[in-house]
Amino acid sequence: MKPFLKWAGNKFAILQRIKEILPEGNRLIEPFAGSAAVFLNTDFSEAILSDINADLINLYQFLKTDGESFIDYCRTFFVPETNNAESYYQFRQIFNTTDDLKLKAALFLFFNRHGYNGLCRYNNKGEFNVPFGKYTKPYFPTQEMFAFHEKIQGAQLLHRDFISTLQMARPGDVIYCDPPYVPLTATANFTGYATGGFGLAEQEALANMARSLAQKGIQVIISNHDTVFTQTAYQSAEIISFQVRRFISCKGESRGQANEMLAHFGRVGAALAG
Ligand SMILES: C[S@@+](CC[C@H](N)C(=O)[O-])C[C@H]1O[C@@H](n2cnc3c(N)ncnc32)[C@H](O)[C@@H]1O
Repeated sequence: MKPFLKWAGNKFAILQRIKEILPEGNRLIEPFAGSAAVFLNTDFSEAILSDINADLINLYQFLKTDGESFIDYCRTFFVPETNNAESYYQFRQIFNTTDDLKLKAALFLFFNRHGYNGLCRYNNKGEFNVPFGKYTKPYFPTQEMFAFHEKIQGAQLLHRDFISTLQMARPGDVIYCDPPYVPLTATANFTGYATGGFGLAEQEALANMARSLAQKGIQVIISNHDTVFTQTAYQSAEIISFQVRRFISCKGESRGQANEMLAHFGRVGAALAG
């Protein structure tokens, strides 16, 4: 099932790899949900999808509760008359000032298909600032939205930081973490760097939490670039590393040369993580 959003760093291309190592469990937790590619293509009886991006979770909430009527509403923005720079920048201005959450949700989808490269970026005042993308005929993802609406009924949506989401974990959960990538240049003792609020301190905090959850018997998988930094941070996990051709990645760091890595903390049958 394809996500209805274009999302930088999405894991649709490596789903099979992830599914091969994702253990069975009662509940899937994705603290870095993004386009939710993993949730959409797995079958846990319960799920928590969480992300720090309020606009993303707001859109998911409307699609979850309003379904077809919300899809129809979103479609009204996808007409030839609005596919020009002037309309796009007017919508962007409205988006950055309105309190109408339903309108914001529809415009967020509009930007995803009409904005440059499907990027999602904000300035330091928190305003959405992606430029117009000049697509001839932007695709409206009707089928993908209907599929998402059905699938999401069984999931809890949360707008929050990964730390508070991970604190909700209990035995029987399976956690898939897909944080923004570490910079390719980061080394184990390189601490001063941050990209978009998610720096090496956050990467380390995530690795530490994964380790302590594993010690409580909760299995955690983390995706990232395979670098000296991640090899060190995830040293108590079982690591799989493989090549992937990548076109866009989180935070505009394009065409990375590093391998992709999956770190599995607390695999049952493996030596106790620690
Ligand atoms: C690599 S993307 C996830 C892609 C997703 N797995 C997919 O297939 O589309 C990383 C996500 O982490 C979110 N994020 C960044 N910092 C976060 C934080 N501190 N807590 C929770 N989510 C965060 C971003 O908004 C983004 O959606």
